[in-house]
Amino acid sequence: MVIITVINNKGGVSKTVTSINIASYLSRDSKVLLVDLDAQANATISTIGETSNDHVGQWLVEEKKFAEVVKQYDTSFDVMPSARALDNYSKLIGTEPDYQFILKERIESEKLQQEYDYIVIDNAPSLSTLAYTTFLAATHVVIPSAPEEHSISGIANILQTVVNVKKRYNPDLKVAGIFFSKYHPSYRERIDNDMVNDAREAFGELVLQTSIRKNVSIKEALAYKKSVFDYAPESAGAQDYQKLVEEIKTKI
Ligand SMILES: Nc1ncnc2c1ncn2[C@@H]1O[C@H](COP(=O)(O)OP(=O)(O)OP(=O)(O)O)[C@@H](O)[C@H]1O
Ligand SMILES: [Mg+2]
Repeated sequence: MVIITVINNKGGVSKTVTSINIASYLSRDSKVLLVDLDAQANATISTIGETSNDHVGQWLVEEKKFAEVVKQYDTSFDVMPSARALDNYSKLIGTEPDYQFILKERIESEKLQQEYDYIVIDNAPSLSTLAYTTFLAATHVVIPSAPEEHSISGIANILQTVVNVKKRYNPDLKVAGIFFSKYHPSYRERIDNDMVNDAREAFGELVLQTSIRKNVSIKEALAYKKSVFDYAPESAGAQDYQKLVEEIKTKI
């Protein structure tokens, strides 16, 4: 089983959109679980349509079993939902000894590797308690970034964390790729190209060839609680995300 954590401590860089669309695309021929680990619950609201009373925090602390909490988006993939209350659960989890292992242990003890081919995890914009639990559970890290100033230093921080986690806890963790979203490759926005080139200089092959263009269908799909593939399959957004997931698959 492949476990992809979609992470960047910067807000608004397309983590949620990316998690939903990776899950949606992979679910065409695989069994996929999307885990929402952000108390904002955007991935939950944009798939199953609402936050639910039962949420991932309860599953993590063993108040509820997986089957009691998991929901289905359409017929395509399952969603482990989040809720505002996750914040309090996260504080509680952070006080437990060896809390970093909690997600990995819950996945293993519920034998989710027998249920799913892929787990895709959407994170909050922080490298906090729950984010660390995903670094230990994951096999691969995907880092969405916006082509703006300071994004290079932000990515460098995340990569350093991955190095530390690999050394201490999870030697098999791999970076599947860094990519840029809300990209404007037009002549008027040469700066976007410059940013991507700078990132390639800094991080080499970790920067994926695919960038996600700024595309209104991506934004609308989120509002209509659909993946971009379901909402606008011919759009530039769907084309870009298809290319991105295909490229990520070559890194797995
Ligand atoms: N390629 C794109 N083109 C147009 N709009 C986009 C694109 N990617 C993301 N957006 C929009 O940008 C906003 C932020 O995206 P998203 O919620 O995925 O970011 P996030 O990193 O999950 O944010 P947060 O840190 O708050 O969790 C959303 O309104 C989304 O619809
Ligand atoms: Mg988000």
